[in-house]
Amino acid sequence: MDPSFLIPAPDPIPVNWFFLQFLLTITTFLHLVAMNVLLGSACVALAAPLAGPDEQTGPLCRKIGEKLPYVMAFTINFGVAPLLFLQVLYGQFFYTSSILMAGYWLAIIGLLIVTYYAAYIYHLRYEDLGPVRSLLTGAIVLLLVVVAFFFCNNMSIMQLPESWVRYFSGGRGWQLHFSDPTLVPRFLHFIASAVAVGGLAIAVYYEHRRRQGDGSGERWIKYGCNWFTIATLINFPIGFWFLGVLPSFAHNATTLAGKLFTVSLYGSLALAVISVIQAQRHRVYPAVGWALGAIFFMTLAREFVRIAYLNPYFSLADLPVAPQYSPMIVFLIFLILAGTLVWWMVKTVFFAQEVK
Ligand code: HEM
Repeated sequence: MDPSFLIPAPDPIPVNWFFLQFLLTITTFLHLVAMNVLLGSACVALAAPLAGPDEQTGPLCRKIGEKLPYVMAFTINFGVAPLLFLQVLYGQFFYTSSILMAGYWLAIIGLLIVTYYAAYIYHLRYEDLGPVRSLLTGAIVLLLVVVAFFFCNNMSIMQLPESWVRYFSGGRGWQLHFSDPTLVPRFLHFIASAVAVGGLAIAVYYEHRRRQGDGSGERWIKYGCNWFTIATLINFPIGFWFLGVLPSFAHNATTLAGKLFTVSLYGSLALAVISVIQAQRHRVYPAVGWALGAIFFMTLAREFVRIAYLNPYFSLADLPVAPQYSPMIVFLIFLILAGTLVWWMVKTVFFAQEVK
């Protein structure tokens, strides 16, 4: 069966696609950074008890537990924005893939609710948990990893309409995409990146405290930087594995998407190397700047790969435009207001608590 017959007709978009793609990229970047901090710091909280007795590692784990519910809220809310833009630009692919894996896709809601509860219990009942604490941290990490795996599956199914025909041979609504050779390296690439950024987030937190005159957490600056360095170094071979299994059309340098992909990818790699060097010198803020740059370029590379995958079926420029600028202007005004409010909330959450 020709899979192009299965692709629904796209809805018209209210403004030029470039504008929506720009917002999709920016908001995906924010979501991925928040997700990395969430999953990565939970991984560190799981592993930290191995680094020393509870009197030493307890304060670090307690601090991570205190921040987890907030970071989870940011991750979910920063996920809503790209979800909207993804639906507007790629709805005909994304809705279909979500339906093909609907059982798992809808399960994400339940998984997130359970994770939220677990994060709050970890934070509010830290002292009472005793030996159950490690089990609970393990459960939080596992649940987040499963959610991430479902997201990777959905992104993989949506960009490969050839796989949709499997619907007719069973597995309705319960499809995972193991037949895609990029699925596992893609997923591992996200997990390693999360562990790296989680470590760096811990280093940032203690660096901030150090600059405020509290040097008691200096050990955790080095600890966080080491997590960042090791996970990033592990991510290099995973990344090259991922690159190796990507179909050649995704990085075909004769196409514009292929050229842009190559530039973004190698730009990202260069920035990642610089951020690791900075982290090893314990220059935390510069390391964060370079690492954010690397994640941004990787997010861009990811968009170019999707464009290349969908190229045989669809091009963004083909989307019908039914201009409606006034809702867009209202949206932008609220975006700026909400952005300011979120920034104020971030500062309040991370700094006001220290005053308390
Ligand atoms: C809190 C747990 C979450 C984790 C661990 C997580 C993880 C991920 C990962 C790993 C990806 C990349 C998938 C890929 O490209 O293969 C992703 C993408 C995405 N996530 Fe999340 N996510 C979480 C929650 C959410 C929520 C609650 C939403 C929506 C409300 C959301 C919306 C999105 C969207 C729309 C994308 C795709 C963006 C794009 O392709 O441009 N995420 N997420």
